[in-house]
Amino acid sequence: MSDPIRIHDASATVEEEIETTLRPRRLDEFVGQEAVREQLGVALDAAKGRGEAMDHVLLAGPPGLGKTSLATIIAEELGVPLVTTAGPALERKGDIAALLTALEEGAVFFVDELHRLPRALEEAFYPAMEDFQLPMTLGQGPGASVITIDLPKFTLVGATTRSGLLSTPLRDRFGIQFRLDPYTPDELAQIVERSAGILGIEIEHSGAYAIASRSRGTPRVANRLLKRVRDWAQVRGTGIIDDAASDAALRHLEIDDEGLDRLDRELLRTICELFAGGPVGLSTLAAAIGEEADTLEDVYEPYLLQRGFIQRTPRGRIASPRAFRHLGLAPPGDAPELFT
Ligand SMILES: Nc1ncnc2c1ncn2[C@@H]1O[C@H](COP(=O)(O)OP(=O)(O)O)[C@@H](O)[C@H]1O
Ligand SMILES: [Mg+2]
Repeated sequence: MSDPIRIHDASATVEEEIETTLRPRRLDEFVGQEAVREQLGVALDAAKGRGEAMDHVLLAGPPGLGKTSLATIIAEELGVPLVTTAGPALERKGDIAALLTALEEGAVFFVDELHRLPRALEEAFYPAMEDFQLPMTLGQGPGASVITIDLPKFTLVGATTRSGLLSTPLRDRFGIQFRLDPYTPDELAQIVERSAGILGIEIEHSGAYAIASRSRGTPRVANRLLKRVRDWAQVRGTGIIDDAASDAALRHLEIDDEGLDRLDRELLRTICELFAGGPVGLSTLAAAIGEEADTLEDVYEPYLLQRGFIQRTPRGRIASPRAFRHLGLAPPGDAPELFT
């Protein structure tokens, strides 16, 4: 704790630790995503029944919807080790060879951010996924030879926020593919109550529901808001989270009735005012508000699209009349009050 750089590290670790604590470990702790749970349950039971490695699984969806949790659950339910890596961490074919050859038979190999796997490495996965083999070239030039390494049977679980960026041959090699959808407020309230229980926070159902309905359909956001609302309730309230405490705390955090935060509103305001409602290209928009285009696309846009605040068109993003009204602005071409 004496080294200032380490203090910074330590606080990041606390957040991560809480995320790990709150992560569901078994399929029956995983809330919502009915169809996914049902299909995954069958696949898990079938693989266990046959004593085989389960088919490869692709998990797609925006951040915070439970992809990493599902990878953990798959390994836990199969009773096999989980080995985790991420697309950008794999640079050379040797990296893959080292990881895959060291796997235990039947293990789950989790590759997060699969869309960021270098293209040249994608091809190495094809024979590994299909035949559990890895051809490697030894040496260079005329003296080079190809050897084939046999791999233990494993289950590749790939997670991506952008399934559109995956090549078709890679995607097709996943026998099981799930797309995670935003959660309903009821499901999120259940998640908030579960998390409150684990963290020892006193919460009423109305308080959990108030947090849930402003969590943009995302469990990670719900858990984060729960912690911030707890702080508020402890310092300014009675310590118990009821709907009044949630409302006051969320107002204090500048999160509005739709669950939009300051950056969401700034994004909408920029399209509505600076670009007269659009269309405006993603990179222009990102530059205008000083955010990374990737962050806008992965984190902010899915919810704004889903709630009909913006639309994606071939020429760029446009703000809907709903966005204008949410900001208290008149949508362009709105008929005068008299005629509506
Ligand atoms: N279906 C769910 N049920 C309960 N908690 C969930 C669920 N999905 C996500 N969470 C919570 O949200 C957090 C973020 O989920 P995570 O699996 O890390 O999302 P992703 O990998 O898709 O970004 C987890 O730590 C967990 O507490
Ligand atoms: Mg994750």
